[in-house]
Amino acid sequence: MSTNSNRFDLWAPQTRANPLPLYARMRQEAPVVRLVDPNTGVPVWMVTGYKDAVDLLRDSRFTKDSRKLPDGSPAKQLRANAIQQALSQHMLMADPPDHTRLRTLVSKAFTPRRVEELRPRVTAIANELLDAMKARGEVDLLDTFAFPLPMTVIAELLGVPVEDRDSFRDWTTTLVSPPVNGDMGPIQKAGMQFAQYIQSLLTRRRTEPRDDLLTALVSVEEQGDRLSPTELVGMLFLLLLAGHETTVNLIGNGVWALLQHPEQLERLRANPALIESAVEEMLRYRGPVETTTQRWAPQDIEFHGQVIPAGEGVLASLLAADHDPEQFPEPETFDITREPNRHIAFGFGIHFCLGAPLARLEGALALNLLLERLPRLRLAVDPGELRWRDGILVHGLRRLPVAF
Ligand code: HEM
Repeated sequence: MSTNSNRFDLWAPQTRANPLPLYARMRQEAPVVRLVDPNTGVPVWMVTGYKDAVDLLRDSRFTKDSRKLPDGSPAKQLRANAIQQALSQHMLMADPPDHTRLRTLVSKAFTPRRVEELRPRVTAIANELLDAMKARGEVDLLDTFAFPLPMTVIAELLGVPVEDRDSFRDWTTTLVSPPVNGDMGPIQKAGMQFAQYIQSLLTRRRTEPRDDLLTALVSVEEQGDRLSPTELVGMLFLLLLAGHETTVNLIGNGVWALLQHPEQLERLRANPALIESAVEEMLRYRGPVETTTQRWAPQDIEFHGQVIPAGEGVLASLLAADHDPEQFPEPETFDITREPNRHIAFGFGIHFCLGAPLARLEGALALNLLLERLPRLRLAVDPGELRWRDGILVHGLRRLPVAF
């Protein structure tokens, strides 16, 4: 299914490489606008200004729980599908009090202090990957470094076998990509395989407990009413998906931005202590999550001069908001010392990214080690040959060939 009826064609392949000029027009001409997703034919509202995005993300009139929508709403119908149901009972698809209950169960594992304890292990994983890369001279940085690093970290944290990481990558890539020609088949198949995989892991942990988050969650589920069996599957699905689909593109987009701006790269090489501020600017400049997930209107809602009809969904474009000139002077300038830099690449409000401290640690360690160990790092292709992924959820490159 494909339609070109949109006044602003965000999904067009030529827009994907750089959606920013189109977002600038949208912010000016139609800051809250109804579009039709060409892949599904379903309408979706898009918010592109920084202040509007923040307002949307803290507006409790909207719901994340599609079961609360009027019958017949597309989002509710989708959730009625058995596979979707198996994977959709998680905190990012819940409102308080369910959201609070689910988030609290795992939040302790992701606090800055707990995450700091992972520093030696993240460093060791990054060094192992760099050792393996060194002899090769030219690699796809996403395949050899940016993907396996966060995937290994989240798999170890949860207690999921790291050997299975290529299967997760296939499933999750399919799950976050738009359907090709409106065909939901591959997405449903990937969802089913992922759900079955999680089920089999849980079955094993029930009989062979270990010292990991998976075992801890299984025991919470077994204790009674705090976590249902479906919520347990949803939790693992969300953590595995969010734990790596995003950080891979923080590293990938970050390296890309540095290689496009040699003077910033030199500043960072000369002063690695700038890494934390550089990571914030990478998140702002080309954040890995282009748009949030949907919030829905359970009844007609007036929002910034528009009426969002009951059952329809709204997205904030985080990439657009983080380039709003009212919030960020010269937003197109990549400045690794930008201050202040209150970007919303991790979202805002109650669904603010649970993994932000982990992603920041992984990003800072990975990038500094990469620059230290590969002093001649450069693109192995012409920048114009790089291709970006389809869809408006994840903003990342398909491949990042580099030489060193
Ligand atoms: C650079 C990397 C990352 C970025 C840019 C990112 C971005 C985001 C964003 C924008 C949201 C909110 C989505 C919305 O409101 O619709 C979110 C939520 C979430 N993220 Fe991340 N994320 C990253 C890494 C991680 C990691 C490493 C984890 C590890 C566990 C994680 C776990 C989560 C979870 C569980 C939520 C849902 C929180 C809730 O509903 O309360 N993320 N993330």
